[in-house]
Amino acid sequence: EKGGYEHYMRKEIHEQPTSLRQTLSGRIDVERGDADLDVAFPQGYLESLQEIQLVACGTSYYASQYAARLLEEFADVRATVEIASEYSFDGGRDPWRTLVIAVTQSGETADTLGAIRRAGGAGARTLAVTNTLGSSVTRETEDSVFIRAGPEIGVAATKTFASQVTTLALLAVEIGRQRGSLAATDARAVLEDLRGLPGAVQQVLDEEDRVLEGAKRFADADAFFFVGRQFGYPVALEGALKLKEIAYDHAEGFAAGELKHGPLALITGDTPVLSVLTERSRPDETLNNVTEAQTREAPAIGVTDGTVETDSLDLELEVPDLGYVTPLVANVYFQLFAYHIADLQGRSIDKPRNLAKSVTVE
Ligand code: F6R
Repeated sequence: EKGGYEHYMRKEIHEQPTSLRQTLSGRIDVERGDADLDVAFPQGYLESLQEIQLVACGTSYYASQYAARLLEEFADVRATVEIASEYSFDGGRDPWRTLVIAVTQSGETADTLGAIRRAGGAGARTLAVTNTLGSSVTRETEDSVFIRAGPEIGVAATKTFASQVTTLALLAVEIGRQRGSLAATDARAVLEDLRGLPGAVQQVLDEEDRVLEGAKRFADADAFFFVGRQFGYPVALEGALKLKEIAYDHAEGFAAGELKHGPLALITGDTPVLSVLTERSRPDETLNNVTEAQTREAPAIGVTDGTVETDSLDLELEVPDLGYVTPLVANVYFQLFAYHIADLQGRSIDKPRNLAKSVTVE
């Protein structure tokens, strides 16, 4: 069942080219510059929409943060993200003009179900984005979209994160086209990039040995800091979460610009800084922040698409340029990094201590 892999997590990381193909299959028309997720929104609904709220927990929350940026960019609509356990429908919003999307791989997370019930109760239209057919969330929402990542056994979410962001990118294109905020030529470019995801992820997987080398070099670190800007920021948060969960090492994700507002005090020679240095993530500024950390002796690992000069890095990991979704490809390096750091320490990777695959209590 693990298909020759020692852990489900590594198998699922390696399944991403396939799972992403499934996510995209039959949903894009590159020539026309359109995406279709088969959601029947009422006539005129999307045009009059004022806000999209995404509610989620953990990794799904980070996928939502990535998606909110895409929605604002493509669909020209305010997109906000709330931790499901903190959510309440308030703030003077008009329920008819607010779409609330529950993003949950399992479809069974109690916090997310609670949030979407509160949204529905207030009269907002609700949509589920989930991996699981027939899950509870699909019964609580008006419409459902499936991310089609296939079953994920490892407790740490990997391929589902990639498929969540990809599905929500398609939704952002679809809504943007419908609202007239995304030109066909721009949509075409985005869809080409999405179509390039499976191949780009495969290129990263082919570099796994370099990640293993890096993991060996830094496995004894005191803590790991992940930094990124814009589309790279949720990926930094997600990279840190993976490392905490499966390696039990202290890891934090920061908006790169925030390092100098406090966390820099934590930086030493034993705190590697991992960064997302790709286009549309403001790589120049981020590199400046990384250099500040290097001045304090921190080793620097950066994922780059060649937009900035990265000779000063201690370890440079390359990704092809896929526009808005390049950071999603960079994330695969962080998944592999967390996996190998945990594996070198002999951790229980598929079933980390104290964690469950689906959290059914609030
Ligand atoms: C992290 C992880 C958790 C889940 C969170 C939400 O690797 O797996 O943080 O992402 O519990 O789960 P779902 O998406 O099932 O609602």
